[in-house]
Parts: sequence; C-alpha cells; structure tokens
Amino acid sequence: MDFGLSEEQEMIQKAARDFAAKAVAPRARELDEKSEWPTDLVQQMADLGFLGIAIPDELGGGGADYVSYALAMIEISKACASTGVIMSVNNSLVCDPIYKFGSAEQHEKFLKPLASGEKLGCFGLTEPSSGSDASDMQTVAVQEGDEWVINGAKNWITNGPHADTCVVFCCTDRSQGARGTTAFIIEKGTPGYEPQPADHKLGIHAAHSCTLFFEGCRIPDANRLGEVGGGFKIAMNTLDGGRIGIAAQALGIAEAAYEKAVQYSKERKAFGQPLAKKQAIQFKIADMAIDLAAARALILKAAVLKEKARTEKVRHTSESAMAKLYASEMATRVTHQALQVFGGYGYSKEYDMERHYRDARITEIYEGTSEIMRIVIGANALKGA
Ligand code: CAA
Repeated sequence: MDFGLSEEQEMIQKAARDFAAKAVAPRARELDEKSEWPTDLVQQMADLGFLGIAIPDELGGGGADYVSYALAMIEISKACASTGVIMSVNNSLVCDPIYKFGSAEQHEKFLKPLASGEKLGCFGLTEPSSGSDASDMQTVAVQEGDEWVINGAKNWITNGPHADTCVVFCCTDRSQGARGTTAFIIEKGTPGYEPQPADHKLGIHAAHSCTLFFEGCRIPDANRLGEVGGGFKIAMNTLDGGRIGIAAQALGIAEAAYEKAVQYSKERKAFGQPLAKKQAIQFKIADMAIDLAAARALILKAAVLKEKARTEKVRHTSESAMAKLYASEMATRVTHQALQVFGGYGYSKEYDMERHYRDARITEIYEGTSEIMRIVIGANALKGA
C-alpha cells in the first residue's frame, strides 16, 4: 500500500500542524490543569474546517479524505489530546453516521451545521451497565403515533455537556437482541433530554464527558436515523471509523512524548555524558521509534480503506481495530518509557510528560477496549475457518 501523501493531504497536515503549534500547544497544560473546555479552540477548528473534515463541501464539510482526517487528528492530539478527541467525536461518531445513514432532510437539518462546526455533536451508546456489551442497552424508545418516547441513561459521553446534537441508540424491540436497536438524533433543549455535569477523569481533562438522562424525551419519527432495528449496525459501522480517529489520537500523544524524550536525553547529563549517549536510553528510543512507525502504517492503511469504502464495497472493521489496538497500547508503552527517560521530572506537573502519560490511558478503553479489539480482529481472522 502506497502511503506517499498527496499535495492536498500534505497541505492539510501542515495546516493542522501550524494550528496545533500556534494555538493549541500553548494552551494545553493550563486547559488540563483547570479541566477547562477549549471553547476558542473548538471555534478555530470549525473555522479551519476540521470538525467535518471528510464530509463533502456541499454538505457543509471540508471535502477532504479520511487520510487527511487521520493526519490532522495526529497533529492536533500531539499538542492536546483533549482537543483531539473533541474533533474526533464530531467527525467520526456524529457527522459520519448522519452522512452515511441520514436522509436528505437530515443532511440539510443536522449534518450541515455539524460538519461546518456551527454545531457540535455527541454519540450516545455506552450506558451505566453496558459498555463493551453494547447491544445490552436499557435505554428504550417506544413509538407513539408519529413520535418516539425515550427513557434511560447514557454515560461517559464525550462532548455531552456542550453538544447541540446527540446521535443516540435505543432498544426498540428487546426480543430482537442487537437487531432491536434503533438510532435517533436528538437536539439540545428537547424536553426530557438532560445532560449532567462533566465527569472527573484521570486524563483528557479538557474534553468534557457526562451522563445523559432521557426522561420521557419525545422526538418526531423524522429524527430516526436509518431503519427501525438497524441501529446496532449503524453503531458498529460508525465505530469502525471512530477507531481510526482514536488510533490517530494515541499516535499524536505518543509522538509528543517521544519527541520530548529525545530532546531531553540530549540535554540532560548523567555520569558525565548526555543521557542520549547511554545504550540503555538509545534502546528505549529505538523501541519507541519502531512503535510509532508501526502504528502510523496501521492507521494510514485503515484510513485508506475507509476512503475506498466511500465508493467500493470494502470493509475495514479488522484494519481499524488493529490500528486502534496497536496505537493505543503503543501509546501506553511509549509514554511510560518517555516518562522514564525524564526520571523524576517526568513525574512532575511542571512538565507535559505526566499529562501525556495520563492522556494515553483512555485510548485503550474508549471506542472499544483492547479486549474488544482482540475479539473483533480474532473473529474476522477466523471467519470461514
Ligand atoms: N459493521 C456492520 N455491522 C456489524 C459490525 C460492523 N463492524 N459488527 C457487527 N455487525 C453486525 C453483525 O453482522 C450482526 O448482524 P446480524 O444480526 O445481521 O447478524 C450484528 O451487528 C450483531 O453483531 P455481533 O453478534 O457480533 O454483536 P455482539 O453483541 O456480539 O457485539 C461487539 C459485538 C464487537 C463486542 C460490539 O458490541 C462492540 O463493538 N462493543 C464495544 C462497544 C464500543 O466500542 N463502545 C464504545 C462506545 S463509544 C465511545 O467510547 C465514544 C466516546 O465517548 C469517545
């Protein structure tokens, strides 16, 4: 597979790198410390066309491809993983399913403002008692005439406290298992749709998540996304794309930690020499460099396939899961080793390293844990065996 970047991909990568260096990186530590939502950075991402980057221009998006999306995600997450995931959720988990499964009316009403960044979205699948076993949901939607009434709760919903639009998955027929799930689009301000205060987490402090309560939340059938009973497949298909975004986020975090460790190892002296002269440190740097390169190759492969799937009947379920699994576990390894190179300073709040170390951890959990990724990859590998 050829990963030579096109002129347009390089241009978008550069635009993301410049934005990350000038606007995001200088704010990242403070945003983390204060758990502050980056309102201004979200607005700037909207202005740059990064919130619906791979949605066609005529639907309000940036008109770019999924490789460009992954490249931009890497650069922005390198500066601030919180800002990265806010972007990823809006692109992969909200714009994408409405683009793929929404009607022309839904494109006009919901997708255009989301893809242009005028509005922000969130994705409601996980519940207090079901995360990995996603089809075992307790949130129900009952049809009453031309309306649906939703009751239940979703939790850990990234962007939840600030989102204008929520793509939510509900059980509409328990007897059908996964085939009894239906997707809906809910707008902020709908009576009975109640986002709760932001969660307290180990990392990605500036990317607020929360529980969403649905109490007699009544929406028109026009807000149903896809077929009745088709929601689980929409969720899975959406996560096939979302996992590329999280893999790119993980790579960005790891690259930031690696580059800082390389720099520090050249400056810091021990036993009369820079750390970089020590073979123990050189081996760590070598292992990190290989890990980063391998993750990048897996991410780009999955992104190329996702782009191909726009026009051809191609599945990238396994490739996305491989990219997400490898990149997230890699980010944990790399940030661990990079912090080790920094020694005590790595453990200090005065440096970014401890933030990278904390931020990396979530990438092994959200949008499918490492264990679920292994189930998905194994099941695909054994298909027909
Ligand atoms: N694309 C399309 N359809 C798919 C699919 C895919 N990738 N994967 C499965 N399906 C279909 C199957 O073909 C099957 O269809 P049929 O009924 O027609 O046969 C149906 O979906 C059910 O499939 P399974 O029997 O495989 O489903 P399962 O209940 O065993 O679950 C699972 C499979 C892979 C474990 C799934 O539940 C899963 O991915 N769990 C993890 C959930 C997850 O990633 N949650 C993240 C939440 S979002 C988040 O974190 C966002 C955030 O805030 C950042």
